[in-house]
Amino acid sequence: MTKKNRRVRKAVLPAAGLGTRFLPATKAQPKEMLPVVDKPLIQYVVEECLASGIENIIIVTGRGKNAIEDHFDSSPELERFLESKGKTEQVEMVRSISNMLNFSYTRQKEPLGLGHAVLTARELVGDEPFAVLLGDVIIPGPCPATRQIMEVYEEIGIGTIAVETVPTERTNLYGIIDTQPADQTRWGKRLLRIRNLVEKPKPADAPSNLAVTGRYVLPPEIFDCLERTPPGSGGEIQLTDGLRLLAQEQGLYALEYEGQSYDAGDKLGFLKATVEIALQNSEFGEEFRAYLRELKL
Ligand code: G1P
Repeated sequence: MTKKNRRVRKAVLPAAGLGTRFLPATKAQPKEMLPVVDKPLIQYVVEECLASGIENIIIVTGRGKNAIEDHFDSSPELERFLESKGKTEQVEMVRSISNMLNFSYTRQKEPLGLGHAVLTARELVGDEPFAVLLGDVIIPGPCPATRQIMEVYEEIGIGTIAVETVPTERTNLYGIIDTQPADQTRWGKRLLRIRNLVEKPKPADAPSNLAVTGRYVLPPEIFDCLERTPPGSGGEIQLTDGLRLLAQEQGLYALEYEGQSYDAGDKLGFLKATVEIALQNSEFGEEFRAYLRELKL
C-alpha cells in the first residue's frame, strides 16, 4: 500500500444509540445533543475531527436524531435574525458550525450494536481507511487522540486504536486489550501490538488494565471482519469482536495516546466532564473555580 492510499480522510461517528443511561433527558432529544457547558457533545467530537485533518464526517443516526442533522446544517433564519440585531460574532459562530466539514448521514435501522453501526457506514466509507470516534468520550486539546493514531496508520499502514490505563475495578466498562511489544518505532513503548481484545471483562478476567478509549483508525478490511462477527456481549455485534478478527488477520496496534479523556457516557462522568471543561473556560473558568471553592462540601 502506498502512503497516499493510507491517508485518512473520513470519520464515522456512531450516533444511533437510544441514550437510556440519560433518561428522562434523552426521551425526546438525542444524547449527542446534550450540552457540555456551551456545546453539544457531538460538536466536541466533530471539532476533534477538524483538528485532526479529517475532511468528511459520516454520522450513523437512527429514529429521533434529526436535531443532529439540523445542528450541522445552515440556519438562514437564525443567521438573518442575528445579523439584524448586529450580533456579528454569533452569526460567525453559527455559520462556522455548518461550514466545518462535509457531513453525510446514514441510518442504523435497528440497535444491533456498535459493530453493526460501523458496518452501516460501509457504502459511504468505500475502500479506504477511516477513523471512528465515539461521542461519549471528549478529548479536548491541541493534539487530538485521533490525529495521533492517524499518524501511526499513515506511517505504518496497520489499524491503530487509542488506549489508556483504567483502574482495575473499572475494566467491566471498557474494551480491554492484551498486548505484546511492537517493533521499534518512534512511538517507543507507547505503541503496542494487540494480541486479543475482550469487551467489558470482569476485573478478574481482564487481560490488562489498558482500555479502549473510543478512537479508532481502521482499514476497510474491518467491514469483512464485522460481517463475520456474531452477536457478543449484550447480544450485540460488538466492534471489539470485529477488531479481534482484524488483529488476527491483518494486525492491529494500540497507542497509549497523550492527552486527557472525559467519559461523558453516564451521568457522573458527564457531570465531571462539565465541571472540568467549565474550569478551563476562558470567559468564566476562574469565577467558576472560586464558586466551587466557596461551596461548603
Ligand atoms: C464502547 C466500546 C468499548 C469502549 C468504550 C469507550 O462501549 O464498546 O470497547 O471501551 O465504548 O468508551 P460503551 O461505552 O459504548 O458501552
